[in-house]
Amino acid sequence: MIRFVTTNEGKYREVSKELEEAGFECEMLAIDYPEVQCDSLEEVVRSSMARLSGKVEGDFLIDDSGLFIPSLGGFPGVYSSYVFRTIGSDGVLKLLQGMEDRAAEFRCCFGLHLEDRNELFIGAVQGTITQEKRGEGGFGYDPIFIPTGGSKTFAEIPTEEKNKLSHRGKALEKLLKFLEKQ
Ligand code: IMP
Repeated sequence: MIRFVTTNEGKYREVSKELEEAGFECEMLAIDYPEVQCDSLEEVVRSSMARLSGKVEGDFLIDDSGLFIPSLGGFPGVYSSYVFRTIGSDGVLKLLQGMEDRAAEFRCCFGLHLEDRNELFIGAVQGTITQEKRGEGGFGYDPIFIPTGGSKTFAEIPTEEKNKLSHRGKALEKLLKFLEKQ
């Protein structure tokens, strides 16, 4: 049983689908834990795992993700959650108004606490930011992100398809390979 500590239903939907299809049972542990502000997702995950291992009994999984926009110096990056809660996708579109370079990257870092070990699994996907929001599916910044090679936003494609392309899907592949070896 993999206990995924998150309050984000969208992340849970994507992660549980892949884990369950691979034969691993998954449970959502909706504990809202504060994230320490660090310079990278990996540092955020390491510090969250250290805090949570004192609070959560047994093994658990966490996910820290972010949207990195090179023309904005990598913003919102590790501040993605705060930026989404404050200015949202509309705010990000405004920041990019009139800018030609709309390249972006989604990154995901999983932290798996297994017995006395902490393992990290990272995935990334390149793409571009749209001119306006498109699509009703997904969550977070999905309506403004088109993966490279595609024409639809992550909010316009089903979970199954997003998992094949996304930062989380790529990190999940590595996580599954690791779990299958245990
Ligand atoms: P955190 O990992 O919970 O800190 O999330 C960072 C922010 O990025 C939140 O606002 C999420 O909604 C957003 N986010 C994380 N992963 C995704 C994704 O796969 N698609 C769209 N937005 C995401």
